[in-house]
Amino acid sequence: MRIFSGIQPTGAKHFGNYSGGFRQYVSTADQNEAFFCVVDLHSISVPYDPVDFRNTCLDLAAMLFATGLDPERSTVFIQSHVTAHPEASWLLSGVATVGELKRMTQFKDKSRGQDSVSAVLFGYPVLMAADILLYQTDAVPVVDDQRQHVQLPPRRAPDKPGISNLIEIMAVATGTSPAAVEKEYEGQGYGRFKPGVAEAVIELLAPIKRRYLELRADAGELERLLARGAEKARAVSR
Ligand code: TRP
Repeated sequence: MRIFSGIQPTGAKHFGNYSGGFRQYVSTADQNEAFFCVVDLHSISVPYDPVDFRNTCLDLAAMLFATGLDPERSTVFIQSHVTAHPEASWLLSGVATVGELKRMTQFKDKSRGQDSVSAVLFGYPVLMAADILLYQTDAVPVVDDQRQHVQLPPRRAPDKPGISNLIEIMAVATGTSPAAVEKEYEGQGYGRFKPGVAEAVIELLAPIKRRYLELRADAGELERLLARGAEKARAVSR
């Protein structure tokens, strides 16, 4: 199966991004032909500093590799490196309607009360449809607030679970189920459980952090990996 996912290069990534995103990408990528795209063109609807923004894109790309995506197996790239994305978006704008786009919840939420709204925000779902359709994608892993956007292209969107409490964090960190965690710590109270969670999370993240810092410090290698990703993405999307 071919999988496509776009990840916005905004904000510092946190444990929720790992448990509900990066971790899923890695297991999905093992079983499928997967494309992971840093969607910088989606993120320019708000003012940005060009240097900071470029760095944020590279941070996210390094994080994708550090959390375990294999550049040999998966295609990891930056959206603006593949010009087919904005081109396809323009073409799809010919069939997307203003009425449809106005009804999008994200557009309504983000434009409410603003006196000036970027047209990029309005066309956001069209670019997202372009992302997906360019690769003849079979499945798109999305979080709940993005469901409406993937209903534009007629494709399936499997769920990703959210994570809401320490038990689930512990289960993620140790690779077991919440039920198993509950059983192990039954009757012991928070006193032992909390430091246990902290230790497990640190142990999980330490190697990721090490790989991240190593790759992020090696601009040449990171750029080489991304250039290769873009090349593969270009060949498929063309
Ligand atoms: N809109 C998505 C988000 O904010 C990011 C995204 C852009 C995306 N293009 C995509 C996700 C294509 C899945 C497929 O999370």
